[in-house]
Amino acid sequence: METTILQAIDENAYVVASNALLNGNLVAFPTETVYGLGAVATNEQAVEKIFQAKGRPSDNPLIVHIASIEQVSEYVTHIPELAKLAMEAFWPGALTVVLNAKPNVFASNVTAGLPTVGLRIPNHQAALRLLQQVNAPIAAPSSNVSGKPSPTTANHVLQDLDGKIPYIINGGETGIGVESTVVDFTVSPPAILRPGGITEEMLQNVVGTVVSAKLKSDSDAPKSPGMKYAHYAPNAPVYMVDENVENVTKAVLQAKQNGNAVALIAPPTFSKVPVEYYFDSGITNEEKAQKLYAHFRSCNDTNATIIFVVVPARQGVGEALFNRIEKAAANKWWQS
Ligand code: TXA
Ligand code: MG
Repeated sequence: METTILQAIDENAYVVASNALLNGNLVAFPTETVYGLGAVATNEQAVEKIFQAKGRPSDNPLIVHIASIEQVSEYVTHIPELAKLAMEAFWPGALTVVLNAKPNVFASNVTAGLPTVGLRIPNHQAALRLLQQVNAPIAAPSSNVSGKPSPTTANHVLQDLDGKIPYIINGGETGIGVESTVVDFTVSPPAILRPGGITEEMLQNVVGTVVSAKLKSDSDAPKSPGMKYAHYAPNAPVYMVDENVENVTKAVLQAKQNGNAVALIAPPTFSKVPVEYYFDSGITNEEKAQKLYAHFRSCNDTNATIIFVVVPARQGVGEALFNRIEKAAANKWWQS
């Protein structure tokens, strides 16, 4: 199959992409978080193609993308008051709301057999244009091969899925760079299943108490099946290091002594650390989130045998960033 890149600024792109979706085919598209790989959420065979293309385990449910808050009542049995407040405050945006699904509305492989469904309205013109044109809910996980870093550019999608999907809508680099916050509103208080673009503080301001991802010893929640799988990882092993130039220099020298070629993802104050490959993470958590996955992919283009990542302060989107780095590192800190 040939993969065609459509341009988000081209009006005709949405007609082509929407026809493909309605014919049961896949389209990758940009959102404000990462690129998604979409299929019409009521078409079981189309959704099956997502699992095939990504090599995704079938027990991992997909997020359903919709165009308006009004549609939610068509898809779920009940909208709790707090969920309503959150949707009104954060949609369109990087919040996935998990609610009890009406039976037999979505294809069964979308929810992986769970009684619940994750819904969100993405905050990206191209995604919204596509949803309006299709006029159907779109199931879309991140459009990477399972286990790889999520794509933040159309080119990343191509790296993983060239020849496996018919269309990619190119909308440039995504703004947030890490995935949406997944919140379970079927429990009280609501529980963060995956930290993401909407921060815990932002949620608390709107819905009050939430069960924090931070409080869990491991941020894997049993109800968010996807979090138990290895994720977001570049090829070489990743180690977390604290934001301390002296300690990081020591760690780098040790790793080199062990025969490693070292890559380092760190703020500009670390640019003089003697590594083979230095990637500037940026300074703010927002910059770091936007660049993290691209840096992971760049590491794969080097012959680095070990990757050090300076961990961010766990504030705001830093919590999601920390979670993704921790997963990529399989919880490993460099021990000097
Ligand atoms: O920002 C995002 O959320 C991106 C863009 C494309 O929207 N999508 C994304 O999808 O990250 P994915 O499939 O890579 O991650 C979805 C996560 C998984 O951890 C999955 O287990 C969880 O959401 N999830 C989906 N439906 C769920 C449900 N009904 N209950 C609990 N967790 C659910
Ligand atoms: Mg994903």
